[in-house]
Amino acid sequence: MIEPILEKARNGTELSRAEIAALLSITDADERKALFDTAYAIKEESVGKIAYFRGLIECSNLCIKDCYYCGIRRSNDKVERFLMDEEEIFKEAMWAYDAEYGSCVIQSGERQDETYIAMIERVVKRISEATSGEMGITLSLGEQTEAVYRRWKEAGAHRYLLRIETTNPQIYARIHPADHSMEERLECLAALRRTGYQVGTGVMMGLPGQTMEDLADDILFLKSIDIDMVGMGPYIPHSDTPMGKEVPAYTEEQKTQALMLGLKMIAVTRIVLRDVNIAAATALQALEYTGREQGLKCGANVIMPNLTETEFRPKYQLYDNKPCTDENSSMCRGCLSGRIKGVGEEIGFNQRGDSQHYRKRTAD
Ligand code: 5AD
Ligand code: FES
Repeated sequence: MIEPILEKARNGTELSRAEIAALLSITDADERKALFDTAYAIKEESVGKIAYFRGLIECSNLCIKDCYYCGIRRSNDKVERFLMDEEEIFKEAMWAYDAEYGSCVIQSGERQDETYIAMIERVVKRISEATSGEMGITLSLGEQTEAVYRRWKEAGAHRYLLRIETTNPQIYARIHPADHSMEERLECLAALRRTGYQVGTGVMMGLPGQTMEDLADDILFLKSIDIDMVGMGPYIPHSDTPMGKEVPAYTEEQKTQALMLGLKMIAVTRIVLRDVNIAAATALQALEYTGREQGLKCGANVIMPNLTETEFRPKYQLYDNKPCTDENSSMCRGCLSGRIKGVGEEIGFNQRGDSQHYRKRTAD
């Protein structure tokens, strides 16, 4: 039943929406293993067995958005807000450079005021200059104008992550307040592309009411906009959010189910998109300790070890049970390196690890 679809995938034949949904619907353990092995073989062939590190700096949890699922939404007054200063962000980026990570990601809640925009611009420039442009700089700072994206690109950023969250307009409308617009998000992705970034997007899986067909559409969307990088992860309820309040915390069984769906999405995305970078989201590890390594084994090739100072970590809880909130950067480096080597992957130390897809699309 599943084998003919996997055979098509191995031959590089395009899969239909129904075939993609069938792969995502797998529940049988043997079939799941066949899916993951196929995805891993395609990963090896298209991007190699190398995991790239991106040191993640969560530099502020101040946010103007109010998404119903997110723990740092504007209306959550239980969160103590923080903003790292420029020096702190720079120091963490340099830590990543010295740790031979090759790339860092600067992520925060969304802010569109000039003070913040200019601060990011200065710090990106400083990191870029201090590393002679060697360090890959990814930004994940939400919706901005094209002019802002351009300023940050000119300062030295190369990549930008902006998740679409879901491509089903009804679900999008249900999980966001009325003034959060899917069209604007799509326009931002188009602006990022015009500006010349390597562009990454992705979705959450396991959202209430989301079907396998919705997720198949999400994967086909990623393909249709010719994306370079994919960052997606399982939705995990946060108890201080409108969506999280409605449901009890995940049972062990629900956690396993959410993890399996997350892994299947990575595998099928690898099969369909082939040469893009795919991150094994930290949310996978919130569901099971080895979640991120399992992500690598079914097609992901990027891991984002946390660089954020331990003091700030508990304040950047997008979802419940976020891992590593008591650890520091050195602990994460040692811990993750060991675990990744343990699953037979090499780590791309000192390499920027640009998306092969981006390289190919910009070569011609
Ligand atoms: N569960 C999983 N992922 C979440 N994000 C925000 N809240 C949650 C949650 N409760 C993700 C969103 C956002 C990214 C920064 O974190 O996809 O784009
Ligand atoms: Fe952070 Fe293991 S990855 S301590």
